[in-house]
Amino acid sequence: MATFTLPKNSRITGKGQRHTADGASRIKKFKIYRYDPDSGENPRYDTFEVDLDNCGPMVLDALIKIKNEIDPTLTFRRSCREGICGSCAMNLNGRNGLACTTAMEDLKGEIRITPLPSMEVVKDLVPDFTHFYAQYASIRPWLQAVTPTPSGKERLQSPEQRDKLDGLYECILCACCSTSCPSYWWNSDKFLGPAILLQAYRWLADSRDEMTGERLDALEDPFRLYRCHTIMNCSNVCPKGLSPARAIAEIKKMQAERQI
Ligand code: SF4
Ligand code: F3S
Ligand code: FES
Repeated sequence: MATFTLPKNSRITGKGQRHTADGASRIKKFKIYRYDPDSGENPRYDTFEVDLDNCGPMVLDALIKIKNEIDPTLTFRRSCREGICGSCAMNLNGRNGLACTTAMEDLKGEIRITPLPSMEVVKDLVPDFTHFYAQYASIRPWLQAVTPTPSGKERLQSPEQRDKLDGLYECILCACCSTSCPSYWWNSDKFLGPAILLQAYRWLADSRDEMTGERLDALEDPFRLYRCHTIMNCSNVCPKGLSPARAIAEIKKMQAERQI
């Protein structure tokens, strides 16, 4: 394990701990998973120290500071910095979340950062989403209709029909839920996982879509849908406050209702 200290202009007192007037430490330690497939070396953890007085409040602020000022080889994804793009999803002290919306003060002690669990790692904190995106494509995530649009215009919805998409359309496909689901860890080759099933339900719930039967047929499978055993990690961890478990329950209900 390598340890990286603050750059020269950082003020450190005593035994390497900086203290405020009331004696509280303002140095935060980060233990970060490192893996570079081109090096031929095994993964390791590196430890970094960041002065919170010279850093923004979010975990992503610290990662950017480390990359800019201490180790430019540290690799992670980020884009929007406000919880919209989903690209900064990672595991923070054992819980999946978005680095840009997770405040450092909400994480006690040293912050341990690893890539999302159960996915192949491309480099450091960057997981390989290839399989996840292929699963997403498999549910045909777009409006499918056979009847022509009325008068060539848009397909209208009532406010009540539109309300049914609330709690679904906000999904940013960050995969925090799927990679916290034990069923997905063991069966991700066949189980679609909570993120993709929430997306599948988003189209089942859309009054304008006309492929409900075909969509349900595609999910009627012991693995693709029914490997969900209501473990609930998915709903507990979603950084957007969504409930994939509820969406999955709704799909199961639709499957049961059409058997009657
Ligand atoms: Fe991320 Fe939540 Fe969508 Fe899952 S349901 S992919 S955790 S936004
Ligand atoms: Fe997994 Fe969520 Fe079901 S954690 S088992 S998808 S309720
Ligand atoms: Fe876009 Fe964090 S950087 S969600």
